[in-house]
Amino acid sequence: MSKTYGIDLGTRVLKIYKKNEGVIYDAKNIIAVADGNRIIAVGDEAFEMFGKAPSNIEVTYPVKYGVIADIKHMQAMLNIVFEELSATHGKLNGSDFIVTAPTDITEVEKKAFIDLVASTNIKPRKVKIVERPIADALGVGLNVTDASGVMVVDIGADTTEISVLSLGGIVLSRLIPIGGNKFDDDIISAVKKNYNLIIGNKTAEIIKINLATAVLPDDDKIKAIKVYGRDVVSGLPVEKEIDSAFVYTAIREHLQNIVDSVRMILEHTPPEIASDIIDSGIYVTGGSASINDLAKLLGTETELAVNICKDPANSVALGIGRIIESPELDSLSYVLKQMNYKD
Ligand SMILES: Nc1ncnc2c1ncn2[C@@H]1O[C@H](COP(=O)(O)OP(=O)(O)OP(=O)(O)O)[C@@H](O)[C@H]1O
Ligand SMILES: [Mg+2]
Repeated sequence: MSKTYGIDLGTRVLKIYKKNEGVIYDAKNIIAVADGNRIIAVGDEAFEMFGKAPSNIEVTYPVKYGVIADIKHMQAMLNIVFEELSATHGKLNGSDFIVTAPTDITEVEKKAFIDLVASTNIKPRKVKIVERPIADALGVGLNVTDASGVMVVDIGADTTEISVLSLGGIVLSRLIPIGGNKFDDDIISAVKKNYNLIIGNKTAEIIKINLATAVLPDDDKIKAIKVYGRDVVSGLPVEKEIDSAFVYTAIREHLQNIVDSVRMILEHTPPEIASDIIDSGIYVTGGSASINDLAKLLGTETELAVNICKDPANSVALGIGRIIESPELDSLSYVLKQMNYKD
């Protein structure tokens, strides 16, 4: 029997699931290219170079805003990752694949996910696609094939995908261009404006992971960390203390945009399904779901229960895994019309 793999091509993170083994690859979805054509690193090794590379080395993310923006480099990276995995997990040649793609993109953009995997060096036998919100909901452990409607909000790096599912299908889904990267940018701007300090993306992410909160913290709960940056005026490296109330103010507008979009989707949800969502609450996934007090903000604004998932950054990969492991869920992944495979 052929081997089966699942792929979640995130804006920030690439995850690969192998049948019977679980998630076997989990690294930054980033590639370092020297002199415009020589790939020198991919994944976490390339991420190490981010923000530090000399001008002849370009370190870029091939997936942007949920779609494959740089097909050539994404494909080169997958070929390298597959090669690495063959050494540790056996040959991938002729395997079956399931890829996920956001729902709210064009058919051409969706087909690019299939074509990308289908044209890698390992010559897959079959490549199927699953709508990302379905994988997300399965990863959370929800039963997506029954008649009860659920809402899943995946707050990732470049995007937030807000979806309502019922009977194994997608009733509504909206992909908005706001996620963790915007919070990082907000922190960079606020630190520059308020402290005359220039910090890089990695420092901004560290500040966010340590301090970001969706609700203004009480005075006695304010946390702070020290960070290094470059003073705008003197040009010299300096240390500054940043606190959680400051970070809250920096990111709150983009958080509010996400909340407003959730409310808008709820307003457009058919009443029978809306009443199911009132019973089950909203499920929040994606790496940015870990922001402190997000459930409090979303719960207050929507008047619904909010479930922040246990392992939010992994829900999509684990959901594809459930499809791969459970023959009864097979119909949730499909082959795009243009592809004809002999079984
Ligand atoms: N503890 C944390 N607190 C806040 N943000 C976090 C935390 N851990 C990770 N993140 C953020 O989560 C984001 C990555 O999430 P995820 O892995 O879901 O993204 P992705 O799937 O690659 O992106 P997308 O779904 O938008 O294509 C990054 O912006 C990262 O900084
Ligand atoms: Mg994602």
